[in-house]
Amino acid sequence: MKANRICNFNPGPAALPLVVLEEIQENFLDFNGSGMSITEISHRSKHFDDVINDAVARTKRLLDLGDNFHVLFLQGGASMQFAMIPMNFLAENSTADYVDTGTWSSKAIREAEIQGKSIKVVASSADKNYSYIPQNIKFNADAVFVHLTSNNTIKGTGWAKFPDTQGVPIICDMSSDIMSKPIDAQKFGLFYAGAQKNVGPAGVCLVVIRRDMLGRVPDSVPTMLRYDTYAAKNSLYNTPPCFAIYTLDLVLKWLEDTVGGLEQMAALNRKKAALLYDFMDAGTFYRATAEPDSRSLMNVTFRLPDENLEQQFIQQALQNGLGGLKGHRSVGGCRASLYNAVSVEAVESLVDFMKTFERKSG
Ligand SMILES: Cc1ncc(COP(=O)(O)O)c(C=O)c1O
Repeated sequence: MKANRICNFNPGPAALPLVVLEEIQENFLDFNGSGMSITEISHRSKHFDDVINDAVARTKRLLDLGDNFHVLFLQGGASMQFAMIPMNFLAENSTADYVDTGTWSSKAIREAEIQGKSIKVVASSADKNYSYIPQNIKFNADAVFVHLTSNNTIKGTGWAKFPDTQGVPIICDMSSDIMSKPIDAQKFGLFYAGAQKNVGPAGVCLVVIRRDMLGRVPDSVPTMLRYDTYAAKNSLYNTPPCFAIYTLDLVLKWLEDTVGGLEQMAALNRKKAALLYDFMDAGTFYRATAEPDSRSLMNVTFRLPDENLEQQFIQQALQNGLGGLKGHRSVGGCRASLYNAVSVEAVESLVDFMKTFERKSG
């Protein structure tokens, strides 16, 4: 029976490519002739080794990572990275720079502060409700890293270009835009992403770490919270989230083989975002909340003339097969998340619906 699927604009967990879901369904009871489901096989088996090695190889190819990077799969979500980063890299007498661009970067800052680490918040866009990305930031030369959030899922902003940190490695939360476009990996000491937006289901956090960063981990950090534990064992120190890694691998296969890589993905993502922003900019009924030069291509946040209309909009959109358009509870309004698996056609349907709704209500 054909499933009755909606156009899914959820912020995360979010839409996955239909072909990936179908492949999971088809192989679910008998993975690769093993006679077992992927959820039943040993993480020490050759079957799973092939999966994890393929996921690592695809991540390296897609992001054009040199041999000096490790690709790791951790649990605890992106939120656990907020705590692990200062724990692993901020030894006594060292300091780091953080940029505060909204909820998630504020949480990363808080986790360093809880541990009593020395950090400096070198820029913040809190003065304008995080509607922009700070520019011309003065970084500290003695910082051991600079922490950024590449895409601010809740506030709808993103870095169009990463800042020049004068050689200080960037550590970046890429949870909501990883694999949405090519990046210059050499700028980063580490980047990480909860998989559940662009690369898979919830349950695994993708971490890419430059090899030299591993030498900085103090002896006092517990085994499961150390990056070198995962790097030494190809993320198999203990039982990893096998199903989530398997799904992530299939999403990366789709990105490589069907989409054609990150340049092609970026072109599609630009097209989708332009469809929505250009439509809103042409009128006055819908108002994008982020400043134009700081707009996210992944999470388009917008307001309607009043909250009552926003509620009707979200409800009626769902009745028309367009789901997940409610803004985050902390900011209200509306948000359309246009992750990789959201098609151009889905965005066109959304714009068509927005036109109709405006005509009826405006
Ligand atoms: C940018 C960003 N960072 C971190 C998180 C938290 O991720 P997790 O739920 O995997 O801890 C989110 C979740 O939406 C996010 O959007």
